Amino acid sequence: MKRDPTLWRYREAIPILQDEHILSLGEGFTPLEEMEFNGHRVLLKIDYLFPTGSYKDRGATVLVSKLRELGIRKVVEDSSGNAGSAIAAYCARAGIGCEIYVPESTSSGKLVQIQAYGATVKKVEGSREKTAEVAMEAASKIYYASHCWNPFFLHGTKTFAFEIWEQIGWKAPDALVLPVGHGTLFLGAYIGFKELEDAGKVERIPRLVGIQSAACAPLYQAFKKGWKENFPTEKKETMAEGIAIANPVRGRQILEAIRETGGEVLAVTEKEIGVALKEMSRKGHFIEPTSAATVAGLKKYLKNNKKEVVVSTLTGMGLKSVEKMLK
Ligand SMILES: Cc1ncc(COP(=O)(O)O)c(C=O)c1O
Repeated sequence: MKRDPTLWRYREAIPILQDEHILSLGEGFTPLEEMEFNGHRVLLKIDYLFPTGSYKDRGATVLVSKLRELGIRKVVEDSSGNAGSAIAAYCARAGIGCEIYVPESTSSGKLVQIQAYGATVKKVEGSREKTAEVAMEAASKIYYASHCWNPFFLHGTKTFAFEIWEQIGWKAPDALVLPVGHGTLFLGAYIGFKELEDAGKVERIPRLVGIQSAACAPLYQAFKKGWKENFPTEKKETMAEGIAIANPVRGRQILEAIRETGGEVLAVTEKEIGVALKEMSRKGHFIEPTSAATVAGLKKYLKNNKKEVVVSTLTGMGLKSVEKMLK
């Protein structure tokens, strides 16, 4: 059967009970573009081409569909900006009230976007972690539509794996190089390929390689030291606001997925992020610094793994963080 080019083409794998609850803005099935880095060809999933300008719509379309199924009328969420924008957009379309807690340092493009969708923005003084604490207090009374905690978000991000599998001819690549903050794309990719493996559709899950900013790298440190779980780490300022997460809530699961697949975690400096940002713009991709961090990590990974089929991604649109880039 011919299906629409959206992530809902994998409908049977997404646990929404009745079709009438599905809320889609036509998201997903993003292009997979071949690109060369230092003589090595890789495939890049262009995931900033989503309705709200980041891959977070993968999770939002499924989570908000589930909210409709449950009859939820109001939600809270906390975010560094992109997940908040995605949840706000889909809630607006569903007529669900929405409060988004963000750190006060969040890029103004993301703040404007959240408000434009009609959500209430609650700016929190201090760190991303403080923002989560304040949101959780609010969540004792209002439904917590958290992209980090709510499993239905991962049922959306897992479609990243299904799309790659279909786009490269019903198989798995050797490695996936992905950003990791809370790991919602990272774990989604793991779950998607695990489901494909369990169904006998691929032979193994790709090597999962996580990229962190050296300014905030709890999983990099935990992986290097052989720890089973991460501990809250010191955080310095970084352009890569989307992955500046000092204490990822599913850190243990992320580390397990990395070890199970023979993967690793790489950390990139602010200078490397800046270079990658310029390089990608010159290739015609205006991405946000968080996404440039992934490219910087990809270049590092390719130095030692030249023969593999490697897939990476561009997760967020540059227009969201213009003032940070000017700085
Ligand atoms: C553009 C972008 N890329 C990557 C990430 C990392 O996502 P996660 O925290 O789920 O690992 C984020 C998170 O906000 C983001 O905004």
